[in-house]
Amino acid sequence: MSSESSEDLFRYLEQTRELFGDELYHRPPESFVSDSGDQSFESGQYTSANLDKYREEIQSCQKCLLGETRQKFVFGVGDPHANLMLIGEAPGAEEDKLGEPFVGRAGKLLDKILAAIGRSREKDVFICNVLKCRPPKNRDPLPSEVELCESYLIHQIHLIKPKLIVALGRVAGKTLLKVEEPLKAMRGKLHDYHGTPLIVTYHPAALLRNSGFKPPTWEDFKWIRSILEGEQ
Ligand code: URA
Repeated sequence: MSSESSEDLFRYLEQTRELFGDELYHRPPESFVSDSGDQSFESGQYTSANLDKYREEIQSCQKCLLGETRQKFVFGVGDPHANLMLIGEAPGAEEDKLGEPFVGRAGKLLDKILAAIGRSREKDVFICNVLKCRPPKNRDPLPSEVELCESYLIHQIHLIKPKLIVALGRVAGKTLLKVEEPLKAMRGKLHDYHGTPLIVTYHPAALLRNSGFKPPTWEDFKWIRSILEGEQ
């Protein structure tokens, strides 16, 4: 078995354990992980095994009320096989209008940070949010919205298979890690999100508000680069 297939099998077993506990739940394995196939098995449902097809499958979502107020569903953008996945909390007004994450002022700053580590949103990076639709007045995601939307994110991660996830800001960090902690407590640690290493750093909008956050953010991104380049 190749190391990629054993990694997939390991993730499948981890997900199975999360869903069903220690009892082994058996499903035909050939449809689960194959990128060449059309479908895979995730969270009790068959879903597309290709990122573009997956977008088509979920972009008309009406599972929560945000489906009624959004202008555009913001699936995410970037390299479908990226090693680095950046996750914000939810689309803002500009993102809602254009259907792309991080396109406002904070997004422009994020592009500069990525350029400083030799990447871009097209090059080995995938950017998305925990929620795919904008909460009214940019309020924080509600737990009920996260509960309904998170399986989309988990399936995106399953398809992209990033080496590292970076949660942008306290809200994204605490929502993914299911903790109530300040950013400082989550920063500087290698966490785990469904089998993928995860780091929490400042949200680029916070850097626009307080430039004092820029040096520690740069320290985080140097660490991120070293992880991606296999130096640790
Ligand atoms: N802030 C976020 O968390 N996500 C976006 O897409 C834009 C701003």
